Amino acid sequence: MYVPANVVTNNDLLKYMDTSDEWIQERTGIKERRYAHRTNETTTTMGVEAAKIAIERAGITPQDIDFIVFATLSPDYYFPGCGVLLQRAMQMKDVGALDVRNQCSGFVYALSVADQYIKTGMYKNILVVGAEKHSFGLDFSTRGRNVSVIFGDGAGAVVLQPTEPATGSGPGILSTHLHSDGNNAEILAMYNPGTHANHWVEQRLADFDEAEVGEMFMSHAMIDNAQNFPFMDGPSVFKVAVEKFPAVIMEALTANGYQTSDISLLIPHQANLRISQFVQKKLGLSDNQVYNNIQKFGNTTAASVPIALCEAWEQGKVKEGDLVCLAAFGSGFTWASALLRW
Ligand SMILES: CC(C)(COP(=O)(O)OP(=O)(O)OC[C@H]1O[C@@H](n2cnc3c(N)ncnc32)[C@H](O)[C@@H]1OP(=O)(O)O)[C@@H](O)C(=O)NCCC(=O)NCCS
Repeated sequence: MYVPANVVTNNDLLKYMDTSDEWIQERTGIKERRYAHRTNETTTTMGVEAAKIAIERAGITPQDIDFIVFATLSPDYYFPGCGVLLQRAMQMKDVGALDVRNQCSGFVYALSVADQYIKTGMYKNILVVGAEKHSFGLDFSTRGRNVSVIFGDGAGAVVLQPTEPATGSGPGILSTHLHSDGNNAEILAMYNPGTHANHWVEQRLADFDEAEVGEMFMSHAMIDNAQNFPFMDGPSVFKVAVEKFPAVIMEALTANGYQTSDISLLIPHQANLRISQFVQKKLGLSDNQVYNNIQKFGNTTAASVPIALCEAWEQGKVKEGDLVCLAAFGSGFTWASALLRW
């Protein structure tokens, strides 16, 4: 994992918006988050820092990587994706680089893709990265406070390699489970810049009817009306999240003949501490069975699961033979889980 050095406390946010440490902690559990250096750090450079550690711990070199999967919603460029920038920065061979656009579920989706390539025997060393630089594009005025206080920057990475067939006792990814429901796409979304031209939304975003060719992608009206920032209907997201998280965790357990008591550690996407606590209670898991670190890093979207996995492993909370469940839910909506024998 890699997180920027710059720690931003809840009180630090008071200079931009009307909020309070008490409100943020009570509603989200977050005490502080990290913000990348404004100009020296990007989503890709943070991904590179995490990837260097993952590759070193795997005992290989960047030249051994034969496929890259990079998950982010905050790419350095609209296109090309961060995967190729990482390939260049790490001087890797001209291997395939796939960018995954699944927001908070991005890392679990990316892991699932990599898992299939490993299981078919196509690749032997796959680098899977989740990284975000949220701080570049949040509404730091009071208007955007329901979103801005939640998100933080950082990156996590893993190297996936083949093991003996994962039968339940040996190490490996036992199964992955992916879902989507686009009916709620606009509930948690960044509409602009984009090509939608109000096709999907009833509310009039910017003034596309008046816009000339060439003024549709990014306009002064979008900026004047703060429509270039993420939008979130927090309570609606909360309601669906607390339903889908337990469902997709149970799906993974049931598919492999396990029950909740078999989980050594659940690593949920760090969306909100209240969501994690709700899931823990609903599944009857003990405090030792669930890992949370949103207090320190906020919600780092595609980076949150690998950052939490890395921390948990470094703290000795993920040991050989453990049954580890990763689970995520987010914009799309998309949700996903992975069951691993460590
Ligand atoms: C965002 C979230 C923390 C808001 O908490 P909530 O209890 O639902 O709060 P609401 O949005 O209903 O807002 C309650 C009040 O707090 C205010 N408020 C919102 N953000 C605030 C902030 N940062 N500081 C202070 N007050 C804030 C609102 O303006 C509202 O005021 P009002 O009652 O006077 O209108 C919560 O909905 C949530 O966590 N949702 C899930 C979001 C999530 O996980 N997103 C990531 C996707 S994986």
